[in-house]
Amino acid sequence: MKTKNILKSIGYTAGVFVLVIFLAYCSKVDQIPFVDFVIDLTDPQYSTLLNLGGYVHEGEVIVFHGIDNNYYALSKFCTQDGCDLQYAVAQNEITCPCDASKYDLHGAVIMGPASSPLYEYLTQLTGTQLHIYTP
Ligand code: FES
Repeated sequence: MKTKNILKSIGYTAGVFVLVIFLAYCSKVDQIPFVDFVIDLTDPQYSTLLNLGGYVHEGEVIVFHGIDNNYYALSKFCTQDGCDLQYAVAQNEITCPCDASKYDLHGAVIMGPASSPLYEYLTQLTGTQLHIYTP
C-alpha cells in the first residue's frame, strides 16, 4: 500500500471516529432523563397537589396542579444555576427564586437569565394515582 493510500485510510477512519463520538454526544445532550414514578394523591405528604396551584418536589422533578386542572411535571432545577423552581399560581408560571427566570407550564423560557428550557415529563391521572414518566 502506498503512503498516500495509507494516509487516506487513516483520514477516513479518523473522520468516522469523530462522527461517531459527535453523534453519541448529541444523543446524550438531547436525551430527557429517565423518570417513572407514581404519586398517591391520598398520601398526606402530597395533599397540596389536590389543590389548584399546589406543587411538590419529588426527586429531580417539580410536579404541580395547574389552574387549568391538569397536572404537569418538569425538571425542578433552573437551567441557569440550578435553583429549585416553584409554581407561581397567580402568574400561572414556573419561577426561579434565585434570579427571577420564568418558564411556562411546558418548561419553555419566558424570561431569563435562563436560556434553556426545562425537561417536560408526561403525567397521567388514574383515580388518585398520578403517574409521572419520561415520554
Ligand atoms: S438559578 Fe434560576 S435564574 Fe439563576
